[in-house]
Amino acid sequence: MSKSSFEFYKKAPPDGGASSFVYPPSEANIRFFAEALQNGCVVGLPTETVYGLAALALDEQACHSIFSIKGRPLMDPLIVHVADLEMARSLAIVPEDGRILAEAFWPGPLTLVLKKRSIVPDLITAGKETVAIRMPRHPVAKKLLHQLNAPLAAPSANPFGYVSPTRPEHVTSAFGDKVPFVLDGGPCEVGLESTIVDLSKGKNPAILRPGAVTAEQISDHLRLPVQTKLLNLEETEAATAPGTMLRHYSPKTKMIAFELGSIPKTAKNEAIAFLQRPGTLNPSREQATFWFSEDGDMEIVARTLFDLLRKLDAKGFERIFCELPPANADGLVLAIRDRLSRAASIK
Ligand code: TXA
Ligand code: MG
Repeated sequence: MSKSSFEFYKKAPPDGGASSFVYPPSEANIRFFAEALQNGCVVGLPTETVYGLAALALDEQACHSIFSIKGRPLMDPLIVHVADLEMARSLAIVPEDGRILAEAFWPGPLTLVLKKRSIVPDLITAGKETVAIRMPRHPVAKKLLHQLNAPLAAPSANPFGYVSPTRPEHVTSAFGDKVPFVLDGGPCEVGLESTIVDLSKGKNPAILRPGAVTAEQISDHLRLPVQTKLLNLEETEAATAPGTMLRHYSPKTKMIAFELGSIPKTAKNEAIAFLQRPGTLNPSREQATFWFSEDGDMEIVARTLFDLLRKLDAKGFERIFCELPPANADGLVLAIRDRLSRAASIK
């Protein structure tokens, strides 16, 4: 922690909130948060995907604090958030395909992996020649980025490996006074992390992490085939996105995923979570039966997924069984399957 951030953490945003560490996104508070960031602080930032743990991207010391607060290995690079395409161009070489995708999907849940410029600290990219960049569309994130007029590095605001945060209280419950400034942006609209597409390999774009923006949409805009390369760190040391480890987004409770329709038998003190409300409820198991949506709407499943996993984790069940959406899917459905499988995967 730098001297100026240490001093700044003693201050409080002008407009107080209903709970400690979470502050409403008033104009005065946005100015306060911008000043906190300029002084090297790490803050909780709402985005439309998940909450981020943000610091000035070009402030190495502040970015170092992100890694230590999260318990994140230094080999796992951070995503940089920008206010506009011009800011992205100051950090990376944006090829024509990058411009096309940025114009189509920014602001929004799409991260572009691009060749970096030397101004980007190696700490952010974990020594790679590429940097991951996105422009968020959450109005609070946009306001803060415009106020700052500087890029913000922000990974998801969860302890490394745990379930991602989609509400401000998820940030404070994990970090408490280690992250005393969290901007309240309400529950996240998308609820799953952005799609990551690697554009650093010329005409061979590849999806490294599925999200709300689909491979088909990207392929249509680029008029190119798009590969999906969901790598697992355990499988290859040369993994392109180290954070895409097989076991990730995991509750502490043991979790078991099952295919749609193949309902497992559960024992006492085991929970089962379906994608949609089951037609008939077993009366003896009612207390331990949950669902991510009423009618299987995948946008709602995505939005509620991490919150329900956290709630189930807190209930003290011995095991949690979770239904998976079909495997032959794209976009959000593939992303839901990806996150649930990773949460359930045992090494
Ligand atoms: O929606 C999101 O993307 C959220 C919000 C806060 O913007 N952020 C997020 O960050 O999910 P994080 O750090 O939890 O996940 C970033 C992923 C990691 O898997 C990391 O390995 C990968 O992006 N990544 C970062 N830089 C990369 C690079 N240069 N090449 C390949 N993968 C990269
Ligand atoms: Mg994350």
